[in-house]
Amino acid sequence: MLYQPHMTERLSPDRAGLARACALLRAGKLVAFGTETVYGLGADATNDHAVASVFVAKGRPHFNPLIAHYPDAEAAFAHVRATDMARQLADAFWPGPLTLVLRRADACPISLLASAGLDTQAVRVPAHADTLALLRAVGQPIAGPSANRSGQVSPTSAAHVLAELSGRIAGVLESGPCEVGVESTVLDISGDHPVLLRAGGITLEAIEAVIGPVAHTAPAAGVLRSPGLLASHYAPTLPVRLTATEMRADEALLAFGPPLPGAGLVFQLSAAQNLAEAAARLFAGLRWLDTQGQTRGLVRIAAMAVPSYGLGRAINDRLHRAAAPRA
Ligand code: TXA
Ligand code: MG
Repeated sequence: MLYQPHMTERLSPDRAGLARACALLRAGKLVAFGTETVYGLGADATNDHAVASVFVAKGRPHFNPLIAHYPDAEAAFAHVRATDMARQLADAFWPGPLTLVLRRADACPISLLASAGLDTQAVRVPAHADTLALLRAVGQPIAGPSANRSGQVSPTSAAHVLAELSGRIAGVLESGPCEVGVESTVLDISGDHPVLLRAGGITLEAIEAVIGPVAHTAPAAGVLRSPGLLASHYAPTLPVRLTATEMRADEALLAFGPPLPGAGLVFQLSAAQNLAEAAARLFAGLRWLDTQGQTRGLVRIAAMAVPSYGLGRAINDRLHRAAAPRA
């Protein structure tokens, strides 16, 4: 058996809580932790058994590779082949919501299961004091996919984690709401040219200001370059209708700025149309509209348009996936 149902321990991010989280992770158990982006489902990335149980707990297809989290760039670059570009990006954005995909170092101790058979490894240094303290204490890279069941909306609070994974993981470090609210930007710099695999918390504009133009073409059909690019992902139960300009009677509204006339159930992403505020509230809003909408017999979530620059790119990416037909 890879995993057995048990009580999920709720741990405060104080000395005792961090020590307990550290002990559980070292013992190969799963502990969810807060980051500045979303909550991660932590496992010792060097422990095959622990990594395997992440896939079981999430119900995630095995081919989806995991990000390894580190307390600093030096620790990360000991496990991958760092390039000048990697160091430049780390200097500019770590700790922070940027994940770099690089070639694995020859003696990389990370479970091959975590990179799902690819010769690359995704690494990141999160900007969250509790998590950095935990990573330092554990002394091993921590694999951390978003702490949701596969295909569901990413959690931005410990309560969201418990709603989906209670009883399936050993613990959750209750480290408050996530400030950024959308996942990290995933940038593949393992080849000749940098490629944006997932828009996220660090904007494309900010990255290009440091390293110049970045390609963001979709991978060739059939090539599973980044499985996180699966079309239907981050999906609430209610279907989502994009760029709504008018309300239908059976819809809940995800508003960005003044709500559309006639909307009854409304979640406001940002009244002032501030993209950072909207990103931070996006996943909580989708969850809230999903449950409240179903309670009230609504059948769809209408989402107002969000501009596609800066963090708006990540917001629109997640909204498009939430709206994509289910596999
Ligand atoms: O903000 C985040 O990145 C959060 C927090 C917890 O750090 N983590 C997260 O992990 O979103 P996950 O597993 O939900 O998404 C990781 C993304 C996926 O799209 C995956 O396919 C991609 O990164 N990825 C991971 N390793 C990769 C690799 N070696 N090559 C290409 N893509 C990779
Ligand atoms: Mg995820």
